[in-house]
Amino acid sequence: HVGVSRRLITEEQVKKTLTKRMPDAHKGSVGRALIIGGALQMTGAPVLTTYACLRSGAGLVTLAVPDSIQPIVSQKLTESTFYPFKSKNGQIESGQLENVDYYSNFQGVAIGPGMGREQEHQLFHAFKNYVGPLVIDADGLYHLSRELQLWKKERRSAPTIITPHPGEMASLTKLSIQEVEANRFDVSKQFAMTYNMYVVLKGPFTIITTPAGEQWINVTGNESLAKGGSGDVLTGMILAFLLQHKNIAAAIYNAVYIHGKTADMLIKTHDVWSVLASDIANNLPKVILSMR
Ligand code: APR
Ligand code: MG
Repeated sequence: HVGVSRRLITEEQVKKTLTKRMPDAHKGSVGRALIIGGALQMTGAPVLTTYACLRSGAGLVTLAVPDSIQPIVSQKLTESTFYPFKSKNGQIESGQLENVDYYSNFQGVAIGPGMGREQEHQLFHAFKNYVGPLVIDADGLYHLSRELQLWKKERRSAPTIITPHPGEMASLTKLSIQEVEANRFDVSKQFAMTYNMYVVLKGPFTIITTPAGEQWINVTGNESLAKGGSGDVLTGMILAFLLQHKNIAAAIYNAVYIHGKTADMLIKTHDVWSVLASDIANNLPKVILSMR
């Protein structure tokens, strides 16, 4: 059931809340985004996140990766810039993320896609004083799961957004995937309110929950999204939309709705087997235009 604090994301709502770019906009004023991720074994994930972020309105996007893969990812991205982190065994070396002064150059940060788990990272320490929104996804959620007590005790003042799939939510909550799936609304709400985070619990019918416990459910999207990289694209979209909207919840539900809507449009002309994550990013221009 969908009650007062649980709402469907409607197309009408998305159209109403989607922001417009001002004629006098310049690249710095529409959002400088930083994406942190990638590893020798996972060079595609941060590329997809960066590309989707560029396709979703960010003015300038920088991708920070282990220095050992910078020559690889930079071949794939023409419109972004790069920041090399010192690496160890193909992943960002422990202690490198604490170069906190650098983050103040950006209005928003997303961390996690393809970053790997071998090096330990202290995300709270790295981002506690960062004043922009922080999106944590994929392996970033693994690093987060090791320091949740700290996040509960000492809060960031800026918004933190997590984007777990049910398996990642299970690891964060120490519940089984079955328990998460059977109680998607309640598990999300409990987590969001306990840790003061926006929670995007993915899967068919993605649920978005604010730190105050307000919830939205998304009905766009389909099984063509069941392919590696779809989530990485969503992370880049959420980061870019956060920089275009003042309302954090609206930014997130607009990104989730449009991500799914793009997949819905694609399966009219592409078989569900064949849709790629990059197809989602490449078709955002049409779908966002249709929301104007
Ligand atoms: N119906 C609707 N939406 C779906 C469906 C479906 N059947 N299947 C997947 N999706 C959507 C989800 O809602 C989500 O937005 O596709 C996206 C999948 O995101 P992830 O599960 O994060 O997938 P992925 O992009 O492969 O993640 C990449 O990060 O999460 C880790 O372990 C994962 O290493 C992998 C990496
Ligand atoms: Mg993922």
